[in-house]
Amino acid sequence: MQNYNFFWIFARKNVILQAKCQKKMGIELLDYIESHISAEPEALRRITHDTHVNVLNPHMLSGHLQGRFLAMMSRMIGPKRILELGTFTGYSALCMAEGLAEDGVLVTIEHNDELEETIRANLSLSPLGRKVELRIGDAKQVVPTLEGAFDMVFIDADKREYCEYLDLVFDKVRAGGWIIADNTLWDGHVADAKYDRDKQTLGLRAFNDKVHDDNRLENVILPIRDGLSIIRKK
Ligand SMILES: C[S@@+](CC[C@H](N)C(=O)[O-])C[C@H]1O[C@@H](n2cnc3c(N)ncnc32)[C@H](O)[C@@H]1O
Repeated sequence: MQNYNFFWIFARKNVILQAKCQKKMGIELLDYIESHISAEPEALRRITHDTHVNVLNPHMLSGHLQGRFLAMMSRMIGPKRILELGTFTGYSALCMAEGLAEDGVLVTIEHNDELEETIRANLSLSPLGRKVELRIGDAKQVVPTLEGAFDMVFIDADKREYCEYLDLVFDKVRAGGWIIADNTLWDGHVADAKYDRDKQTLGLRAFNDKVHDDNRLENVILPIRDGLSIIRKK
């Protein structure tokens, strides 16, 4: 019992340390990581650059580290069909398309029609763009119209609506399929009482609780970037 307590205190200290490091990972460590992982394909580099120059809120784009993670996940799963909620400028769609089967397709939904031209131009920068079907509209309206099962779903739209998205996509994911949800730690706000009235924080806390309480799902939350939940439908 004593040994167990010691382990618990040690593990706890480690978690606190990791959380602190993550919060102030700082540019040096991120630079180090990015210089030791696979390079961003040229098309994605261009999208990152153009998004920062031309589009509001460029920080919404997944970026090098998370993008390589999504590409790696997709390669591991080898999906035939991927669904994405929240395209923005198409960066994460092209990352996940890297793992698609030869005849695979990725359906991505974006409700901001002002982004349509940019998204289509960005997708055309890569041959993988041909595998991406863009739907302009509200994910809450579009998802129920989609036919067929998906092997992998990436939820990255309005943080207040994550619970609704989960309900909508649940039956669209095949048994043994994967749901990845972005921003589920929300810069640590999910565990910070100062944000008890913040709607996005509340939306994400409700989502994390819902996933945790659903015994049809298993999940892990990774402290990559802003928190990435990897969820498997049993
Ligand atoms: C964080 S960005 C997506 C970033 C992108 N997945 C990436 O990693 O490069 C969120 C996007 O979701 C879109 N969005 C928000 N609510 C939506 C909804 N209900 N339906 C479809 N898109 C939505 C926003 O317009 C925004 O472009």
